[in-house]
Amino acid sequence: MANFTDQLIFDVDFARKQFPFFDLNQSNEWAFFDNAGGTFPCRPVVDKLEHFYKNNKVQPYGDNALADAAGEQMDRGRKVISDLMGVAMDTITIGPSTTQNLNTLSNACTGFLSKGDEIIISEQDHEANIGGWERVAKHTGATLNLWKVNESDGELDLAYLEKLLNNNTKIVCVTHSSNIIGTVNPIDQIIDMGHSFGAKVIIDGVSYAPHRWPDLSDTKADAYCFSTYKTYATHQGIMYVSPGFLEMLEPQCHFFNAYRPWSQLDTAGPDHAGIAALAGLGDYFEVLYDHHFEKPDLPLNIKASMVSNLMNSHETSLCKVLLERLTHLPTRIFGKNTMQGREANIALISENHTSARLSTLIGKKGIATKHGHFYAYRILKKMGLDPDDGVLRLSFSHYNTMNETVRLVNALTGILEKSA
Ligand SMILES: Cc1ncc(COP(=O)(O)O)c(C=O)c1O
Repeated sequence: MANFTDQLIFDVDFARKQFPFFDLNQSNEWAFFDNAGGTFPCRPVVDKLEHFYKNNKVQPYGDNALADAAGEQMDRGRKVISDLMGVAMDTITIGPSTTQNLNTLSNACTGFLSKGDEIIISEQDHEANIGGWERVAKHTGATLNLWKVNESDGELDLAYLEKLLNNNTKIVCVTHSSNIIGTVNPIDQIIDMGHSFGAKVIIDGVSYAPHRWPDLSDTKADAYCFSTYKTYATHQGIMYVSPGFLEMLEPQCHFFNAYRPWSQLDTAGPDHAGIAALAGLGDYFEVLYDHHFEKPDLPLNIKASMVSNLMNSHETSLCKVLLERLTHLPTRIFGKNTMQGREANIALISENHTSARLSTLIGKKGIATKHGHFYAYRILKKMGLDPDDGVLRLSFSHYNTMNETVRLVNALTGILEKSA
């Protein structure tokens, strides 16, 4: 049991012990701050992946015990991920990525869209929640309306959405938080606004989920997506679709598989081992829950949320240190300059270096970051940035430490003050 006084504190050392990467010497050489690009996988996930590959890497659900065991592991992976989210297994599509899932979802909407209908997309979104809708609008004749961001700060304004919405609006697409701006958007309010005109609301939770586990037990979203390679697991895209919305969609799978709600939007053959290994994510949250809480057995989604709150407080406290220092350095930070209402993911540009150079210089000091447009091409263009050089992005995960944060802050300070 973690040692706490009056306030529960996240035990980061304990969490790091659950990650094979932190057993390696290179984990001391590198402070890793490209977590928004993908986190390290936790040990229970890696163990389950290895187990599947070593023991049951066969066509699952076949007529033999090896295949039976493979199928059981996959079923368990599906069950655990839906339990973690607090939703029915039938509402979850597990595809190779969120880009693929959203593309499939947009294609599945073609049957009920036609000329005169309207789709709203947000300029703040990753291309994954824009491009497919643009193509579908072109093919169906539906009108695509762009919910523009404010040019000065890249934020979304609800008043703008209000003006776009009308009785022809069939779909509203928006990100829970942008992978560049980092502000947590008021999705409940957005969903209510969309629903008041009868529109379906589709949320991209990819940037948000690593910072707050998506417990969707009381969601009003019609669809919600995130990617488990950014939540300490295998490279899968998870898409929740509400039963009412699924009924309106044209299945995108082989016709003889369409009787299963969870395979209707699965266009790809599933990654058997990757799905089986998702069960390890449940074990990871359980281990952290048992370590931090003296509470009775609770549903998995509640446990995951409680653990995720602790993780969030920890990474927020680290990111605050960075943010405070950055306000004194010659940089432009995107999004809010406090941690109030934002995720621990900071994009910035320097007054004296290109983002590419800054990323290289900081890399030479043992800090792993990344620069670019991160497929949020349109918002960067809107804010007058060169998407190819883009921004430097510094993204935290719950396994980062204060020591790593101080190394990051010192490295940035050294580079930016020297050049000022
Ligand atoms: C906000 C956001 N949406 C969507 C995606 C696409 O996810 P995937 O890589 O699973 O296709 C990303 C990927 O970085 C993202 O950051």
